[in-house]
Amino acid sequence: MSAPVQVKGEVLSRRRVGAYHLLEVAAGGIAERARPGQFVAVSVGGRASAMLLRRSFAIYRATPTGAYTGTVQFVVGVHGRGTEWLAGVRPGEPLDLVGPLGTPFRMPGSPVGCLLVGGGYGSAPLFGLAEALRARECRVDLLIGAGTVDRLFGELEAKRTAGAVTVTTDDGSAGFRGTVADLLPDELERTGALVVYACGPMPMLRAVGAVADSYGLPCQVAVEESMACAIGVCMTCVLPVVGEDGVTRMARSCVDGPVFDAQRVRWDDVGTVPPDALGAPVPPASGEALCGGAGPGAGGGT
Ligand SMILES: Cc1cc2nc3c(=O)[nH]c(=O)nc-3n(C[C@H](O)[C@H](O)[C@H](O)COP(=O)(O)OP(=O)(O)OC[C@H]3O[C@@H](n4cnc5c(N)ncnc54)[C@H](O)[C@@H]3O)c2cc1C
Ligand code: FES
Repeated sequence: MSAPVQVKGEVLSRRRVGAYHLLEVAAGGIAERARPGQFVAVSVGGRASAMLLRRSFAIYRATPTGAYTGTVQFVVGVHGRGTEWLAGVRPGEPLDLVGPLGTPFRMPGSPVGCLLVGGGYGSAPLFGLAEALRARECRVDLLIGAGTVDRLFGELEAKRTAGAVTVTTDDGSAGFRGTVADLLPDELERTGALVVYACGPMPMLRAVGAVADSYGLPCQVAVEESMACAIGVCMTCVLPVVGEDGVTRMARSCVDGPVFDAQRVRWDDVGTVPPDALGAPVPPASGEALCGGAGPGAGGGT
């Protein structure tokens, strides 16, 4: 896989899409290397900012050539200070990106039916994936959902990209009322898909993985864990994943993921280091005093 690069890019456009902002950035070097499922880490706040940590965004579109050397598009949902700043950038402004980062979705070995499931802005990386799958003669169907209609991403594009598109919203403001996981059994029956791919909030990924598992189908999920460095150094993004040898390891979602087999993630233990994980701290013997002190997350800004 190509090594990530740091690019001093330039914002080409920013436009509202429902509740989100779609940014297009001239980022030659990243666009050429990117594959579906990978992400970029974006510097926020400008040169004098105290926001030191980059913010991560799944790549929606990577176009290697064109009027500019290469462009990358990603979708921003405003969450905190960093995304708020990004929602205000203007064409012509500089933007520093590192990418492409993380593992891409793996392709099936032969043409099979694939069901792609997206939640909120998590639908964004599924469009490039759909194209890559179709280039391999896989049938592609899409199931996308969100809390409300303005938080759906790519509904119209989905209709152009996939064989069949099913939409859900929690409040029924578009498509079926309910979650993508509620509709998934029907969609698997109807489409006959043999492989499931999903991207969206963690509870959704867990639910989708469980349904796929109940049908005995492989399911790849692109997880979203909080990240500090995004390059495999700091261990803030770890989650417990069972390896082929049956051993649980704390996998770094920025470099070992974000794409994992759903069946290998220990969903009940996400956010913890299970005692049986390789390298987990040994609990103190009974009666031994616990020392206080600053942990790795103590203090500092972001
Ligand atoms: C692989 C990956 C892909 C992502 N793709 C998208 C996307 O396509 N569109 C989108 O809108 N958002 C995406 N996110 C989430 C996005 O990174 C966070 O919403 C963003 O970092 C929040 O920054 P903030 O300054 O607005 O919020 P703050 O809460 O102020 O952020 C403070 C710190 O926490 C981290 N953080 C907070 N929330 C999250 C979160 N949900 N995930 C990861 N780190 C977080 C930030 O990186 C920052 O270091 C993705 C996250 C990951 C890990
Ligand atoms: S974010 Fe630092 S190791 Fe993953």
